[in-house]
Amino acid sequence: MAKEINTIGVLTSGGDAPGMNAAIRAVVREAIAKGKKVKGIKRGYAGLLQEEISDMEAKDVSDIIQRGGTILQTARCLEFVTPEGQAKGAEICRKHGIDGVIVIGGDGSFKGAQKLAALGINTIGVPGTIDLDISCTDYTIGFDTAVNTAMEAIDKVRDTSTSHERCSIIEVMGRGAGFIALWCGIANGAEDILLPEKYDFDEQKLVNNIIENRKRGKQHHIIINAEGIGHSTSMAKRIEAATGVETRATILGHMQRGGSPTCKDRVYASTMGCLAVDLLCEGKSNRLVAYKDGDFVDYDIDEALAMEKSIPEYQFQICKSLSR
Ligand code: ADP
Ligand code: F6P
Repeated sequence: MAKEINTIGVLTSGGDAPGMNAAIRAVVREAIAKGKKVKGIKRGYAGLLQEEISDMEAKDVSDIIQRGGTILQTARCLEFVTPEGQAKGAEICRKHGIDGVIVIGGDGSFKGAQKLAALGINTIGVPGTIDLDISCTDYTIGFDTAVNTAMEAIDKVRDTSTSHERCSIIEVMGRGAGFIALWCGIANGAEDILLPEKYDFDEQKLVNNIIENRKRGKQHHIIINAEGIGHSTSMAKRIEAATGVETRATILGHMQRGGSPTCKDRVYASTMGCLAVDLLCEGKSNRLVAYKDGDFVDYDIDEALAMEKSIPEYQFQICKSLSR
């Protein structure tokens, strides 16, 4: 028989992402609507091990849906990667009467959820990361806001790049994944995009492209470089020396992780938060909420973590062909 869930814990873990607050709000209110108690766990697994746990009521999540960041705060916690840390975490859940935990975060956080599930605490993961690098889902909380923030910033750099007839290398986040770079590449009409999944480190191709575009009268040259490749400042120096075209590097950095979430991030995060509660109430555990082929669905965490995700080839190709 499925374990009955009376008290749900919720935490955010790993890098924060705009829309996490919308997910927390949904978890709290959906759970209360279903007659459950909710406990907020501060600072991810670090806060769990420190017992930073408190009751949450519907009013505690008022006025947060529009805010970036996470009201529960987030952290990375090495102790929780150890079996001793995980056993302590499960014990603390039991001590506080928490029989189900909703973990909002990325792949690393889901490995933690997997461990808690194996120790008898029902867990559901909700994908929250600006990087879009969770294989089983076409959407992750925060990606939409982050790409819009990056796109607007790149438009601004492009204005000044055109005025000065410069080449601009703009570095975007994504850890080892190139999804933010790909989307900005298309949305900003970049002349070149460098993705860790695709880049062959042949800088001569970039140099030739810049020289060709100059001959054809292009006044700017935007290169979007993913964080997974990095080194934008030294790359700019080499490219300027090889092309004779003034080149500047801009690293967008953490501004991409902040700001008020877009409508899409609020709506999808709210839906995923509710679905996570519903799954726990159905007695499910070790599951991950996802958005796949137009539907909100759930996967076994073990299977989800074994999946692979690649850069869509067609979009990569059109990014190049549209910038001619
Ligand atoms: P993300 O969740 O965004 O991928 P991290 O990889 O930094 O971010 O992971 C967040 C946290 O999840 C880590 O600080 C750690 O507490 C926990 N975690 C990561 N990997 C594991 C693991 N193999 N087992 C248990 N917990 C883990
Ligand atoms: O996972 C989100 C992310 O912003 C990545 O894009 C980036 O590599 C990383 O987190 C940065 O982490 P930190 O905030 O610890 O520097």
